[in-house]
Amino acid sequence: MCGIIGYIGDRKACDVIVDGLKRLEYRGYDSVGVVTDNDGKLYIKKGAGKISELEVKLNLSELPGNRGIGHTRWATHGVPDDTNAHPHTDCTGKIALVHNGIIENYLELKEELIKKGHRFKSDTDTEVIAHLIEEELKTERDFEKALRNALNKLKGSFALGIIYSEDKEHLYFVRHESPLVLGIGNGEMFAASDIPAFLPYTNKAVFIDDGEYVILSKEDYKVKDFRTGAIKEKEVHVIKWSLEMAEKQGYPHFMLKEIYEQPRAVKDAIYGNAEFIDEVAKEISGYDKIFIVAMGTSYHAGIVGKYLFQRLAKKVPIVEEASEFRYEAEEVIDKNTLVIAITQSGETADTLAAIRLAKKRGAKTLSIVNVVGSMATRISDLVLYTHAGPEIGVAATKTYTTQLTVLTMLAIALARHLRTTDEKYLNTLEEELYKLPELLNEALKHADGLKALAKKLKEKRDFFYIGRGISVATALEGALKLKEISYIHAEGLSAGELKHGPLALIEEGVPVVAIAPSGKTFDKIVSNVEEAKARKGFIISLGDNEELMKISDVFLRMPEVDELLSPIIYVVPLQIFAYHLAVIRGNDPDKPRNLAKSVTVE
Ligand code: AGP
Repeated sequence: MCGIIGYIGDRKACDVIVDGLKRLEYRGYDSVGVVTDNDGKLYIKKGAGKISELEVKLNLSELPGNRGIGHTRWATHGVPDDTNAHPHTDCTGKIALVHNGIIENYLELKEELIKKGHRFKSDTDTEVIAHLIEEELKTERDFEKALRNALNKLKGSFALGIIYSEDKEHLYFVRHESPLVLGIGNGEMFAASDIPAFLPYTNKAVFIDDGEYVILSKEDYKVKDFRTGAIKEKEVHVIKWSLEMAEKQGYPHFMLKEIYEQPRAVKDAIYGNAEFIDEVAKEISGYDKIFIVAMGTSYHAGIVGKYLFQRLAKKVPIVEEASEFRYEAEEVIDKNTLVIAITQSGETADTLAAIRLAKKRGAKTLSIVNVVGSMATRISDLVLYTHAGPEIGVAATKTYTTQLTVLTMLAIALARHLRTTDEKYLNTLEEELYKLPELLNEALKHADGLKALAKKLKEKRDFFYIGRGISVATALEGALKLKEISYIHAEGLSAGELKHGPLALIEEGVPVVAIAPSGKTFDKIVSNVEEAKARKGFIISLGDNEELMKISDVFLRMPEVDELLSPIIYVVPLQIFAYHLAVIRGNDPDKPRNLAKSVTVE
């Protein structure tokens, strides 16, 4: 996830762009760049770091001209450094562009362009687009047509801002599966990834759709289809949000916004890793002694990882809280050990200590991380990114489902490499994985019912979340979400454990949330639910089998999905439920008491 912005008008472009980038920083903050045009000459300044530092360091306010584009980056391809920061240019230096998204076929395109004599300066997927347009311009002199030809060769997701020094009157923008919205001013025009970037200047917005590009001039905008070149009629919307509301895209809290972002985040996690996962799986395939270390929600992702590795790759990792591992595991780690660390922030003190310990003992380390350039990524041998984009709410939501997505992809790739699971089944699982964004949208449809349920249960003192097999992790995560933001006591446990103690606490009206997708242990959890029902517990169940409905007080019908993928879908209603309970009880779900987004001390 990155942020892009463009301005054309009478103001000093760099001021508008820098101002807008500050409001887009939530979309990424590892590097920044701005290009402006002054009378047909492009001026570029860019570098790694945050906008507030670079504004001074690079003297961004010196950039001349009334037309320009800017970018705040969240690295996907290439480390966050000065060279990989956007804008990127072609060989002539006449085309500069910024990009939000991922170009899936960039390696193929890059190879072809290198053969044709193009010289690349960065490791990004983005730079390929500048060279591709340059190449198209060799045979098609009309810039707009050359741009269209280039766009039709790209695969992936992209929102682009493009400036061409020979066309002094326009800026070009493109949208395909990454957000783009125009701001319509009086004698000035804006384009950005998100409304807050230009909201102080205009509240008139035009939403650009996938497959469209925009030719922006001071007084006008034209929107066209980049496949056919046909003009598109667009509606101008008047935005009534305050700036604060706009930053949350109209959601009352970041947590809710992040819950709703999950279809997009999971999609990015899939596409962002598709290219690397086999290579990583190959590198780790020889290890039989495997630890998965993490804390909190990331630890729950580790538990899902264990089930996935066990079922698919026939490997049995030991999942341990990093805070325990760092003091207890030293003597059993050696060079034949693989340590997989899961951490959204990449800065959790215990998880970093666990990685360092593993390295000291000669083990191989692989980190699954959201924040690019964070410490975990710098000290690990291998890194897989979750591509969730910045998560601001303290409660982890989209970073969890994307961690699960990456772990699923890794387990599938490993199983394929080791031939431990029938290829046909792996293919079906992979096909379902690609459908997850749709299924997540279905799961989100329970939101209204969950709000009503939260109202009804707001005075309850204890909740029990039960699951079996891979769903034990979902039970633990559902309980953690509830505890951390609603401040209600909740316990997550394997349903088989109920009658070994916790059942003594189930009495009339105590809520028991059963995570029960169809699968290996469905019949077993039905019996566990019956046990709780017999003690007059209030049963809320999540599943896809009608049988459950008969014994539940509340039944949430979930989309049918392979049991191994169910944790990604089933956690969503639990996040929403915890969110509403927190709000109803007057808590701020974005900033729960006593907690921090990243725990950088022991
Ligand atoms: C859960 O909602 C929390 N934010 C917390 O448990 C978190 O998962 C834990 O602190 C680990 O953080 P990390 O993923 O950044 O390492």
